[in-house]
Amino acid sequence: MTQTLTLRRPDDWHLHLRDGEVLAGVLPDTTRHFARAIVMPNLVPPVVTGAQAAAYRDRILAAMPEGADFTPLMTLYLTQDTDPADVAAAHEAGIIKAVKLYPAGATTNSASGVTDFDAVRPVLETMAERGLPLCVHGEVTDPAIDIFDREAVFIDRVLDPVRRATPGLKVVMEHITTADAAAYVREADGEIGATITVQHLMLDRNAMLVGGIRPHYYCLPILKRGTHREALVAAALSGNPRYFLGTDSAPHVTATKETACGCAGCYTAPIALACLAQLFEDEGDLGKLDDFAGRFGPEFYGLPLNDGTVTLTRSDAPVDLPKATETGAGPITVFDPGRRIHWSVTG
Ligand code: DOR
Ligand code: ZN
Repeated sequence: MTQTLTLRRPDDWHLHLRDGEVLAGVLPDTTRHFARAIVMPNLVPPVVTGAQAAAYRDRILAAMPEGADFTPLMTLYLTQDTDPADVAAAHEAGIIKAVKLYPAGATTNSASGVTDFDAVRPVLETMAERGLPLCVHGEVTDPAIDIFDREAVFIDRVLDPVRRATPGLKVVMEHITTADAAAYVREADGEIGATITVQHLMLDRNAMLVGGIRPHYYCLPILKRGTHREALVAAALSGNPRYFLGTDSAPHVTATKETACGCAGCYTAPIALACLAQLFEDEGDLGKLDDFAGRFGPEFYGLPLNDGTVTLTRSDAPVDLPKATETGAGPITVFDPGRRIHWSVTG
């Protein structure tokens, strides 16, 4: 018997599209399934002003596949030189929907990020007044802190103090990977949400490191032990509106992943929805996917829910997943979920 699942058309609340040939190559993988996405600003050089965000949005719109119905939601990359007036003007003009905080050096193209969190307080205060969310890459960069502990330490050292210093600031803790982060987001006062990725819901660090090192599973924050993955799955299936989908789909051409010092990022855009349907089915609650992927994000951001739908179909045999997306800069290897997927998007 064929089973189908109809969802409200989902959004991706954390996405990397890059620029140029990679942008042109990867954009159709997102526009096929998603209505909107929060687009990360970590280009080289980063998107730091309202004018740069508007220009990047126009490049995305120019690269859209024929007939696509997709709205990129732009962000600014917060630096210690960010001008609060520019942020306010870009928000007022509808150019940006969030500002992204990268601790300097935390991840790909984050060298211009923040080292002194007090220095950005005027920007954060402007954002709090305007209800403009701060999206946070939540990892400390202190070399003394083990990579597997960097998220948990960030909560105590940075996230909680920053939120206390700027009451009313709306924060999204991006791509949470630990039980600690899930608990903080669940219990914190004030407006806080968290995005969760496909890879952190489906895999733990054993998948990356046992039996050989698998560079396509290397992302930041890094995959954690299985108990953390279980906590994330519980969060995603809890029906708590603070948790919503942000794939963090992060394209790097294959040659830059399969090398002695590979880039961080999993490219999940083409198969994210099919994987999530499989995961929620395996967890016994497919009915929770609609709100996780299509309701809680827009509600947090104060945006209307999408009108359209997507339909997924379940086949008895596992489906063949795409292996790579071709771009003018080279192929990008698609994330392998490491389990059989019976779902595909069919309408
Ligand atoms: O794995 C990641 N890749 N994590 C990030 O924070 C950045 C991203 C990228 O830009 O490639
Ligand atoms: Zn990211």
